[in-house]
Amino acid sequence: MQKPIDIFDKIFADLKPVAYAAALVSFFINLLILPMSLYALQVMDRVVTTGSMATLIWLTLIMLVMFAVAGLLQSLRSITLARAADWAHERIAELALPIVLTQAAGGQKGAQQLRDAASLRNFLSGPGLATLFDAPWSVLYILVLFIIHPALGVLVTAGASALLILAWLNEAAIREPTKEASAFQARNMQELELATRNAEATQAMGMGKALTTRWRMMQTRISALQMLGSDRAAIIQGFTKFTRLSLQVLVTGIAAWLSVDGIVTAGAIVASAILASRALAPFEMAIGSWKSMNDARTAYGQLREVFMNASTGIETMTLPAPDGILSLEKATYTPPGREAPILNQIDFRLEAGETLGVIGASGSGKSTLARLIMGVYAPQSGAVRLDGADIYRWPREEFGKYAGYLPQDVELFGGSVRDNIARFNDNADPEAIVRAAQLANAHELILRLPQGYDTQIGAGGALLSAGQRQRIGLARAFYGDPRLLVLDEPDASLDDTGQQALVMALRRAKHENMTCVVVTHRKSLLTHVDKLLFLYDGRVAAFGPVATVMEALAAKQKAMQAAEGANV
Ligand SMILES: Nc1ncnc2c1ncn2[C@@H]1O[C@H](COP(=O)(O)OP(=O)(O)OP(=O)(O)O)[C@@H](O)[C@H]1O
Ligand SMILES: [Mg+2]
Repeated sequence: MQKPIDIFDKIFADLKPVAYAAALVSFFINLLILPMSLYALQVMDRVVTTGSMATLIWLTLIMLVMFAVAGLLQSLRSITLARAADWAHERIAELALPIVLTQAAGGQKGAQQLRDAASLRNFLSGPGLATLFDAPWSVLYILVLFIIHPALGVLVTAGASALLILAWLNEAAIREPTKEASAFQARNMQELELATRNAEATQAMGMGKALTTRWRMMQTRISALQMLGSDRAAIIQGFTKFTRLSLQVLVTGIAAWLSVDGIVTAGAIVASAILASRALAPFEMAIGSWKSMNDARTAYGQLREVFMNASTGIETMTLPAPDGILSLEKATYTPPGREAPILNQIDFRLEAGETLGVIGASGSGKSTLARLIMGVYAPQSGAVRLDGADIYRWPREEFGKYAGYLPQDVELFGGSVRDNIARFNDNADPEAIVRAAQLANAHELILRLPQGYDTQIGAGGALLSAGQRQRIGLARAFYGDPRLLVLDEPDASLDDTGQQALVMALRRAKHENMTCVVVTHRKSLLTHVDKLLFLYDGRVAAFGPVATVMEALAAKQKAMQAAEGANV
């Protein structure tokens, strides 16, 4: 497997020929437009003085043909650049998506990469890049101005520099307010999304008004920042307009003066005006393009860094199917932005086919341990291994074949029951789906749903009850005969029937020699596990056969009660 950074660099290497072609086409476009000034010169100095209609018609026809070709080339350039941008965007987004998912699973916000890819695309297909291609040919126009008279050349060069400075000023003046405003905007959107997603709680407890006030306060700040930015931009744009128009007049004025003195012809006045306008156009455009150019450059830098550090695709070998020996070696996990680890030096080993119960108080780190075992999080030190291979580095699709996971928040997706159990695998074998449901003891429950396996469950499984979600989630975990099962409180929403079904499912898992880790708060489930792990404040307080751990716990409890009794 190629490293992400190499693929990323290859995308831009592949774009190079397109860029060269676009530059060449830009040269021809500008070369074809250049004679416009010569046309003016000829018409004024020859046709008007001699009255030769034939010359006029011929000159005009030649010009029209040249412009037609220039227009055609310009369309061709835009069409090609848009295609290239689209192609690059698709490749970059595809490359970034696994990283975004990894980051999101690790609790980080991860959509930035996709936004970066989009802003690269916008720049590559937008007018900004076209301006960049046209800008160098301004030199051509300025050169002709110099030939007509050096004073005109100097004036336009100075004017172009002034416009460039104004473009830079514009960007600098609006950068901070715009950045701050969009950061607030993103936060506001996020809160709004949360409020709508948790509409049930919001409505029930009358939080709507308070949330609206919060939202409105934030919106006021955003508006103020946006206004500041647009005011500054408006003032600078006024200056730009002034500079641009003044230059136009000054060039014509100076040319007229020179013509009065007999230094240049009358035609040169019109020619200079046209040349100046063409030479300055890209610089004026720069104001509009500067931001997108800057965004694109930042996006490129950020993407490159992310791909450079990307850990996906480290493992290049396809590993053999594991037996299911799970070992944690002094694994320590600290989430980003926290000092103290949530899990500290977790060390234990399960043989293939063993069932482990994980117990501990709320917040002791049970769900975090489940995520660590599934390779959702990477331990900062130590390792989590399945048959000796580091789980976090295992390519996700490969690992997924051997793993089943039921998160504490079941997290089903919009679609049919069948799709959800098959993990959205398009060519899933119906037999495998039914087998998973049977192993999980959910087959009858599913058959009782309105359309059985084809029942649409709504976004996030919203049309199911919490218990139904949990049991279909269990079936999804059993799909594909995994070697390692991790169930995070699979019994949280289950009734008695569901409890019994779960116990049966665990027995079947054992019979199939699946290694099983079950997080639970219920004592009744613990009679069906081989080993027990008691987590206390992120550490293994006890680990071993159920009876031994239970005895140790009872002894500890007794000692604590005795100590309390002594205190009284
Ligand atoms: N992404 C995170 N960033 C910071 N802290 C976190 C994060 N995820 C969990 N924690 C903290 O880690 C601790 C353990 O959380 P965890 O969800 O593993 O507990 P748990 O044992 O599963 O609890 P429960 O029985 O309530 O499910 C908690 O104190 C929680 O606040
Ligand atoms: Mg939990």
